Formats: sequence, structure tokens, C-alpha cells
Amino acid sequence: MQKFIVKGGRRLRGELALQGSKNSALPIMAATLLCGGECRLNNCPRLTDIYSASRILNCVGCRCTFSENTAVVDSSVVNETVISEELMREMRSSIIFMGAMLGRTGECTVSVPGGCELGPRPIDMHLAAMRKMGVDIRESYGRIICRAPSGKAHGARISLAFPSVGATENIILCAVTAEGETVINNAAREPEIRDLCGFLRACGANIKGDGESKIIIKGAGKLHGCEYTIMADRIVGATYLSMTAASRGEIILTNACVPEMEPFLSVLEQTGCSVYTNENKIYLRSGARLKAVKDRIRTMPHPGFPTDAQAVLMAALTVSDGTSVFEENIFDCRYRHTDALVKMGADIQVLGKVAIIKGTPRLHGAAVEATDLRGGAAMVLAALAAEGTTEIDRISHIDRGYEKMEETVRKLGGDMQRG
Ligand code: EPZ
Repeated sequence: MQKFIVKGGRRLRGELALQGSKNSALPIMAATLLCGGECRLNNCPRLTDIYSASRILNCVGCRCTFSENTAVVDSSVVNETVISEELMREMRSSIIFMGAMLGRTGECTVSVPGGCELGPRPIDMHLAAMRKMGVDIRESYGRIICRAPSGKAHGARISLAFPSVGATENIILCAVTAEGETVINNAAREPEIRDLCGFLRACGANIKGDGESKIIIKGAGKLHGCEYTIMADRIVGATYLSMTAASRGEIILTNACVPEMEPFLSVLEQTGCSVYTNENKIYLRSGARLKAVKDRIRTMPHPGFPTDAQAVLMAALTVSDGTSVFEENIFDCRYRHTDALVKMGADIQVLGKVAIIKGTPRLHGAAVEATDLRGGAAMVLAALAAEGTTEIDRISHIDRGYEKMEETVRKLGGDMQRG
């Protein structure tokens, strides 16, 4: 199994063009199923989760190929509606192929998705919404058999109990070709939802209100292929900004989605870093030891502080001056990375959904194992800020969301090898 070997103590500095967003590319790849033609997706990140999505597309009859950071999907043919358990288990995002398959063929057989272990990750809201749209759903031996009796789902008014990103995406994917109008109340407002809707509008879909809590979708007959550029990854941006801040370095992020990163930037600035933004650039300089964040950092649905940035900011604050407090409100078990940070010398106390971070003068190298995607990135960040050498195992978690992290870190002057 591959590992990262990181030697800490260097200041990161340089310029970085942000990769395309994983959490935007994945639902958009599922959405290509609806087009019945060719789609070209530019700024598509080269990640293991993206390859999982392409395997699902190929297994249902589409042809998905990559050149550099462009994915080309030809969905003229869809001749399979069953997605194997093995493919479903590869990532959480596999579940949004349910909405896309229903939107294209009116039926599909899937199973409970895999993905990061962040606590129970039910799909009850996804299934309840599909049923409201007239889809029969039978569960047997872990398989979820879905079929719209009339061959097509129909529009519905759906109020989500929680603004679930995945459930919002699944409803949109099923509704764009359904009979009639669908209204989603309490929809997720994450930027990746707006990117998915931007792609679908480019394919001829009729969607209004994305980015707000109420989204209205008018079912269209057929959609067509298009060329689309995927938005930059705001969480990867938050990761490298936190990494640079903890190393007391400086960085310019280009092609960043600045407005979408404001909820994170407004907290990062409280650590005493200098942050300047203009159009799609973010400049950060952090010459001194970070300050602790005075206000409690509460993870919330967008436009609140993003849960995906919790682990990396926490790692940066382990070497700050003072005490910071996190409150994780989205997932039940998203502090699995703290044991590894404590092993590296961090002072962290977890009490249910609250984590108390007392800044320590320095961290030291250790042998640790990545627990999940963002937790693994947090360990790399801590290792770069630590004295000595850290070995991080199970880095396949990190490769799911970060393009060649070791090359990016080396480009910024850090000492990191894949071993
Ligand atoms: C998406 O996951 C992202 N993944 C996650 O990013 C992100 O953390 C999350 O949204 C929140 O922003 C992708 O986009 C591929 P949810 P998703 O449905 O859709 C509960 C990363 O690091 N829930 O908004 O699974 C659920 O258990 C990943 O890139 C139900 O109870 O998130 C969780 O507690 C990690 N029933 C909460 O809602 C449901 O039917 C938020 O989940 C659905 C969700």
C-alpha cells in the first residue's frame, strides 16, 4: 500500500492553479447520462473517484474517455440499468447515478453507496423523494430496485428535512426529464449544485432557483450534449491555503471561485493571515504563528462554514497561539483524524460534536494512517508543519480528492514523497 513521506519545517510559497471540483464533476458525470449524445467536460480533475464514475458510465453502455483534464462522455447508448454492488461501494457519489438512470431510462438497480466513513450515511431522503416522483422502490438483500411504472417519473413538490447535497442532486437529475414540474423546498445551496444546474441548462434543461433554498425544475423531453467547464474545487483551495498558513508561507491561488470560498476565508482571516482576493485570485501571506480563532467554528450547510474544510483548518490551528473550538454539525463522526494529530503532538479534546484545539508550540513527526479524504489531507498539513519526518499510510483516501498532492506540495517548496 502506498504512503506519503513528509519532512516538515519548510515554508510553502508559490502559485497554484486550482483543480476542478470533485463534488461538482461527479454529479455532472452522472448527468451526462441524460443527454443521449456527446459531452465534453473541461477542468475535470484526475481523481480515483472520477475514474469510479467513468467505470459506472462505461458499465451502463456509455463511453467515457479522458485526455489531460478533459473528460468526453458519449451517452448515445445506455443498454444496462443495473449498477453492480462493487461499483456502488467505491464512493458515496455512486448514489446519484440513481436519479440520472431514472431520468434516462425510468428504471435502475443500485445498492447502498460507499465513500468516507463519516458516521452513518443514510439515503432515506433520496429514496423518499424518488417515491414522491412516482418511482416504485423495492429493497431486497441490499439491492435497491427502482422503476417508474409509467416509464417516466413525474414532477412533485418535495420538502427536504435537511438540505442534503446528494438528495438535492438526485431529485434534480430525475426531475429534468420527468413529466411536469418539480419544486424542491429546503434544497442544498452548495456551489456544486449551481454548477450541476449550469451544466444541465447547457444541455437544454429548464431549472430556476439553484443556489437558493427553493429550486423549480420543469421536465423537458430530451436533453442534448454540450461542452462545459467544471468550477474550481473550493475545498482543495481551502486545503492549500490552510497548509500555507500553517507553514508561515505565502501562496497565490489562481482560477479560484472566490465568492464561493468566502465562508471559509472569513474564518481563515481570523487566524491573523493576510488574505487578498480579486476576481478569481486569492493571495495569502502568513509570516507569523497563527492566532487561535476566537468564535466557535460551526460547520453548517452552505453558505455556512464547510464541513469539508473542518479537518484541514483544525490541523493548521493545532500550531496556533491559543484555543479554538469546532462544532461539527453535518456528520456524526467527522473527528476520526484527531487521534493521528494528537499522536503528532497536538492538544485536541473531542466532546461529542465539539472539538477543543489548544495550540502547541510545535508538532513532531510520527507514523499515521489516513482515516478519510479530508482527514488524510489534515495529516499531510500537520506533517508539513511538524519537526521531523511523518509517514502517512492508506493514502488512497487522499487520492480520491486531491490530484497528485505530493507534486503540488513539492512545487510549493515542501518536502513530500510518495513511497
Ligand atoms: C456531499 O456529501 C459531499 N460529497 C461531501 O463531501 C460533503 O461533506 C457533504 O455533501 C456536505 O456538504 C459529494 O458531493 C460527493 P449530504 P452528501 O447528503 O451528499 C445526512 C468530501 O469530503 N443525510 O448533504 O453525502 C447525512 O448522513 C465529501 O468531498 C441523511 O440523513 O452529504 C449527513 O449527516 C465528504 N439522509 C447530512 O445529511 C439522506 O438521505 C449531510 O449529508 C441524505 C443525507
